[in-house]
Amino acid sequence: MSEPQPIAPARATAQMLEEKIRSRTSRVGVVGLGYVGLPLAVEFAKAGFEVTGIDVSERKTGRVNAGDSYVGDIPSSTLAPLVESGKIRATTDFSAVLELDTINICVPTPLRKTKDPDMSFIVSSCQEIARHFHAGMLVILESTTYPGTTEELVLPMLAKSGMQVGSDFFLCFSPERVDPGNPLYQTVNIPKVVGGCTPACTEMGRLFYAQALERVVPVGSTQVAEMVKLLENTFRMINIGLVNEIAMMCGRMGIDVWEVIDAAATKPFGFMPFYPGPGLGGHCIPIDPFYLSWKTKQAGIEARFIELAGYINGQMPRFVVDKIQNALNDAGKPVKGSRIHVMGVAYKRDIDDMRESPALDVILLLERLGAVVAYSDPHVPTLKLAGKELAASPEEAAAEADCVVIVTDHSTFDYRGMVARSRLIVDTRNALKGVESKKIVRL
Ligand SMILES: NC(=O)c1ccc[n+]([C@@H]2O[C@H](COP(=O)([O-])OP(=O)(O)OC[C@H]3O[C@@H](n4cnc5c(N)ncnc54)[C@H](O)[C@@H]3O)[C@@H](O)[C@H]2O)c1
Repeated sequence: MSEPQPIAPARATAQMLEEKIRSRTSRVGVVGLGYVGLPLAVEFAKAGFEVTGIDVSERKTGRVNAGDSYVGDIPSSTLAPLVESGKIRATTDFSAVLELDTINICVPTPLRKTKDPDMSFIVSSCQEIARHFHAGMLVILESTTYPGTTEELVLPMLAKSGMQVGSDFFLCFSPERVDPGNPLYQTVNIPKVVGGCTPACTEMGRLFYAQALERVVPVGSTQVAEMVKLLENTFRMINIGLVNEIAMMCGRMGIDVWEVIDAAATKPFGFMPFYPGPGLGGHCIPIDPFYLSWKTKQAGIEARFIELAGYINGQMPRFVVDKIQNALNDAGKPVKGSRIHVMGVAYKRDIDDMRESPALDVILLLERLGAVVAYSDPHVPTLKLAGKELAASPEEAAAEADCVVIVTDHSTFDYRGMVARSRLIVDTRNALKGVESKKIVRL
């Protein structure tokens, strides 16, 4: 009988990590404990892993360690027992990487004012990781970014260690698809796409996510995984741009765009409804497509659909303000000096996120026209606008206004009461669908 062959060191590294992941004894790290990172950390802790969250914000790590959640989709009653049982801890100290087997990077990727990608958060977190990097680690970038980031930017920083990707360590990209405030789809049941720098990396990424999430979708490369996210969000942005343009056309022709969309949506194939609104918000749909157009410009291709949809969507706050101005004019009130009450300022329903919210543009434009603006939002108690802070008013205060504008259709608003109390309502979300009243002006 021949002697068993010794396992090559690289193979042994992979095998050890695989075994730790399968037995859920691998130590999981999540860098960036925001809307994406904290739910991910919780999911892995629930699956039995010991999770260390690393964030530059002492306020956030302090709150996590106190079991006090600041992310709407994660109740403190879920987080606190995981912290108490030692399954989750948080730190600002990157030397924790020394103890970790896997790291998911979930740091912000905003755009600069010039609409160029701001990679500074990815770079600074990877520099810190690289300082404490060791053999046998799996690193997965989750931050939305341009195709090529993982291999062109992250890989060189980690490979400086002299270690070989695919054997000494494993590197993947996995787009984050979380939809804050969505009660049906949360981190655990949103299929997770993952692509690695090598087939061994992809397999390690697949194995890792399969421990905690319901469905994993492996793809052939990091670039494919990066592009998946940009296709998804560009698809949304362009279709919203199209429907916003249709809304403007319908407005001009006196056609109810909402009725048009609802009727079109009865087609059982080949049509997917998108809805117009006051403009794009959030850190994804208005931003991610510009990652793609920035990258393709370098390859000599103009992303024309993206630029056009960006332009049309950017017109929507102005379109809403024109609607308000016309509605006030019809009621015999000039916008200057009118009291306008904005209902909802978060960028979408039932969440507290103000990033890129179109409500900010609507309020600024109204103030520039001389209107006196107040707002109500159960999720946003105060808001900063052009150097000053506004405090939310109770919903009932809208009764004093000359015009109420529904910008974000939070489900807790008392719409019936709003119609009864208000003199004039501009509804940018069709929140008052089915309510017939001369007071209501729809987008
Ligand atoms: N929020 C979403 O709905 C969503 C959905 C899909 C994709 N994404 C993408 O996921 C990524 C993260 O988004 P988010 O909404 O969770 O952002 P966030 O701002 O809520 O959280 C990011 C966290 O990273 C921390 N951070 C910043 N620099 C750091 C550093 N150098 N080291 C460690 N921590 C650092 C911040 O303090 C913050 O807590 C972005 O690329 C975003 O585009 C977000």
